Amino acid sequence: MTIQRVTGQDFTKTPIDKAPTPDLGYEMIPKERYISADYMRKEWDRLWTKVWLLGCREDDIPEPGDYHVTSIGPEEILIARQADGSVRAFYNVCLHRGNRIMVGQGHAESFKCRYHHWDYNVDGTFRDIPDRETFPQGAPPCSGLSEVRCDTWNSFVFFSLNPDVEPLLDYLDPLPAHLDPYHFDRMVKIMDVTVEWDCNWKTSVDAFNESYHVQGIHPELLYFLDDYDIQIDCYDRHSRYLVPFVTLSKRVRETTELPHLIKHAMQEAEMDPADFDGQAREVRRALQQWKREHGPRLGLDYSDLNDDQLTDDYHYLIFPNLTLNTHADDLMLFRQRPHPTDPDKMYFDMYLFRLLKAGEERPDPPRNATYKHGEISLGLVVDQDAYNLPGVQRGMHSNGLPGLWIGDQELRIRHFHKVLADYVGE
Ligand code: FES
Ligand SMILES: [Fe+2]
Repeated sequence: MTIQRVTGQDFTKTPIDKAPTPDLGYEMIPKERYISADYMRKEWDRLWTKVWLLGCREDDIPEPGDYHVTSIGPEEILIARQADGSVRAFYNVCLHRGNRIMVGQGHAESFKCRYHHWDYNVDGTFRDIPDRETFPQGAPPCSGLSEVRCDTWNSFVFFSLNPDVEPLLDYLDPLPAHLDPYHFDRMVKIMDVTVEWDCNWKTSVDAFNESYHVQGIHPELLYFLDDYDIQIDCYDRHSRYLVPFVTLSKRVRETTELPHLIKHAMQEAEMDPADFDGQAREVRRALQQWKREHGPRLGLDYSDLNDDQLTDDYHYLIFPNLTLNTHADDLMLFRQRPHPTDPDKMYFDMYLFRLLKAGEERPDPPRNATYKHGEISLGLVVDQDAYNLPGVQRGMHSNGLPGLWIGDQELRIRHFHKVLADYVGE
């Protein structure tokens, strides 16, 4: 693939080479994986307790004693900033009789269970057991809270319930080389919302793993992106596709006026659409050139990104449940979590991050807010996806559907299922 160079500098640091297309066959994908309680239990035993999972952002817990509780399936995990600046994670459960200890996020000098006031230091060790003399058997035979594996990458905190999991960077490979150039640590979180959706977590992952549905449920985007025949790359576990933004789909004709989404993208970069006399399909390259030239003046450092990344959606799946719409100026991150007991429900976590300008003060990130489906708009495009998903899930239960019939534009779904089956089995 050739790389457009607009200034003679080397903007090729981020890998854009096409990975070899895997031969994954054309078998139907079993729908039982989406609806079976038995498969859901296997996913817990063989997937969720084996992989690395996103916990929170480093700037959710900047100071020693700051904590953040997250959940996965039936487990809650307490992530805490330590006195030495490191981050550790524990099962959020009191070793007395099992009460959940901390809720949400905040700052604490110690983690005190409200039931009988067993108290734990921020490093998880026992701090106080009231009336200890009434436990002739002594304290539980451990130093304190049960710890889980925890590590950080590019401003994000990950944990794993698998004590033998491989190092985080090995698990993420090769994505750190792709995503480090975006410098997520220079971005600030501006949205943190959880919505309970009436579908399996994989129904949601699938919905973002293909661009085939754009012509179906996002017709307005045909006047903003190229959805057909895009570059798809599948790696060991993870995958991506590269969607050209600020252009027109091959499915639509050139327009006489610039579509409003394209104009909006220009205005966001302080490029005046009135000064542009080319066609809509020519805006993408022009905007790349504009951002390359004017980014430094606006305090926006794009120096580690290639030109396509200045406009396009580099769209990644970090297996199993993180969807990243990665852009030069922002990151739209989805975390898809299973319901603890019901394969027909899930939790959709949506986070938005915005690149800070040089010298711009870092605002405090918003706290998470949780909603039921339909209680909050997630923006037109995600609302369109969300509206559609319960119908897909209900259809999976129909005797009229033998299984999922997957085409080449949905290769990432097929690849996802291969990796899933490698963990969970057929
Ligand atoms: S359950 Fe926590 S102190 Fe009793
Ligand atoms: Fe969509």
